[in-house]
This record gives sequence, structure tokens and C-alpha cells, in this order.
Amino acid sequence: GMGRVFVAGSINMDVVATAERHPRIGETVAGEAVLYFPGGKGANQAVASAKQGVPTTLVGRLGTDAFGQELRRFLAAQGVDLGFVKDTEGTHSGTAIITIANADNTIVVVPGANARVDAKDVAAPVLARGDVAVSQFEIPLPTIAAFFARARAAGATTVLNPAPAKRADKALLDLVDILILNETELGFLTGTELKDGDPPARFAEAARSLATGKIVCVTLGKRGVLALTGGEPLLVPSRAVKAVDTTGAGDCFVGALASQLAGGKELRDALAYANVAASICVQRMGAAPSMPTVDEVRSALSTSRPGEGR
Ligand code: RIB
Ligand code: NA
Repeated sequence: GMGRVFVAGSINMDVVATAERHPRIGETVAGEAVLYFPGGKGANQAVASAKQGVPTTLVGRLGTDAFGQELRRFLAAQGVDLGFVKDTEGTHSGTAIITIANADNTIVVVPGANARVDAKDVAAPVLARGDVAVSQFEIPLPTIAAFFARARAAGATTVLNPAPAKRADKALLDLVDILILNETELGFLTGTELKDGDPPARFAEAARSLATGKIVCVTLGKRGVLALTGGEPLLVPSRAVKAVDTTGAGDCFVGALASQLAGGKELRDALAYANVAASICVQRMGAAPSMPTVDEVRSALSTSRPGEGR
């Protein structure tokens, strides 16, 4: 049967300034545009999943400000179930201040209401066998642990995207079935010095210590994704595309992967699908608004040749 995706996570308004280059410390540069995009890792992942046609519920909090109302309207229009998104008095909606220059971003996130998502919030939805429970590190870690413990007890699969990188204890990581992280987060969690250009074998080596009792997926940007499933590491390459804004590409990968797993797909197929979804996302501005539909992913999948680099 078809499972549901439940995402417990952050919802932000992304306030984006584009410029020709990033300012140095103490410097002011003139920007080109200021743009407001719905974002936040939880919301982005939920939108990516819902747009694949899979029933998706978001658990989170908004402030009672104008951004909160706008975010709620946007997410509802994307087909995300918001029955467990609460308005919270006395704080603002999560806000990310983003600078984009040459397709590279810097981000300052102010959590606001996201910091108030608690164990009671994540205990409200009822999960079942075959469902997929997804979270990231923009809500309190004890909340994530409570969510995953409940999901596991219900027979659901747990997916953690430990982003942005934060110290996590073993008790939390032990509740994870699938860990999805990028090079930086892998380096942080394993205490290894890793560089973008390092060979995939080096990432596989570093990820091995995390891969006991779980699947670890390391997203390598334009080089694709490396999956450790217990046997030989599996490298799924990306397509070659021209990136304009990579904000939310990792979230697109996570949400699309969760949707395919909830739909009963094999991991290898789900990885290829999520990879293509992310390659579409980077070609558009904005985080949540850049998530592709199921039709867009399928048509890109049917025209992409294996072995191409993104
Ligand atoms: O992963 C991208 C997201 O990180 C942005 O949408 C921003 O809100 C930050 O939380
Ligand atoms: Na994008």
C-alpha cells in the first residue's frame, strides 16, 4: 500500500538579497534584488514530497505575524497537510536572511516559532507501518528524538537530515533508519577533515562509522549521491545542469526520496528519482517554490542518460 510522509520541522520565510558578489566582513555591497521565498528545511522537504503526489503532513509552528499567514497559505496551496502546524503567540515565524551571489549562498536563520516545536506537538499525528517520518536540525533535538521514537513504535521508517550540522548524541542517531547528509555535515558528525573535491571513497570511508544499523546517504552536489547500505557503497551520479540557486536542493532530495520510499520504491530507484528532482530544483530561484512536480521529475528521468555529472 501507499504510506504517508510526516515531516516534523522548520518553516521559514527566506528573505533573499542577490548581489554580484558576497560582501567581506565589515564591507557593504550593492545588491540587485530582494525576494521573499517560503523556505525552512521542514517546509521545503514537505513541499518536495507533496508535489510528488504522496500524502504529506507537516508538523511545526508559525508565529502570529504576517509571514506566518503567508507561509500557511503557500504551503496549503502546495497540497501539504497543515493540520498539525500551530500558530504560536509571543514569537515570530522562522526567518532566514540569505545572500546569493554566483549561485552560492550564505544564510543566517533565526528560529523564532521553530524553537518551540515540542514533544507534545509531534505526539499528535498518528503514524502507521509503511509511513516515513522525516526531520532535520532546525527544531529542538529532544523533539526529534520523541518524534522518531513514536514513529519507530508505529513501524514507520525514520529519515534524519542532520542539517545544519549540530552535535547529536548516539541515542538520537540510534533512532534513525536513513541518515541523509552532505560533505560538511558528514565531516562534522564524524570529526573528519573532508573537502568538496575528495574522492567518493574517502566519503564512504568516513560514513562507515555512522552506518551501523542504518543506511547513510551522502549528497555530493553535482557529483551525485553515495549510499552505504551495508554492502558495497553505491554511487548514483547526477545530471549536468546549470545551477542558479542551490538553496533547498538538499531538502528537495530528502523530500523526494521520502515520497518514493512511502510509495514503496526500492532504495536505488528512490535515490535516482530524488537526484533528478534536486537537479531541477537548483535551476530555479527560491527554496520551497523551486520544488519540481512529479511530472517534471518523470520527464527529466526519461531523458537523462546515466553517467552524466550535474
Ligand atoms: O535548506 C535551505 C533552507 O535553510 C532555507 O530555505 C532556509 O530557510 C534555511 O532554513
Ligand atoms: Na532553487
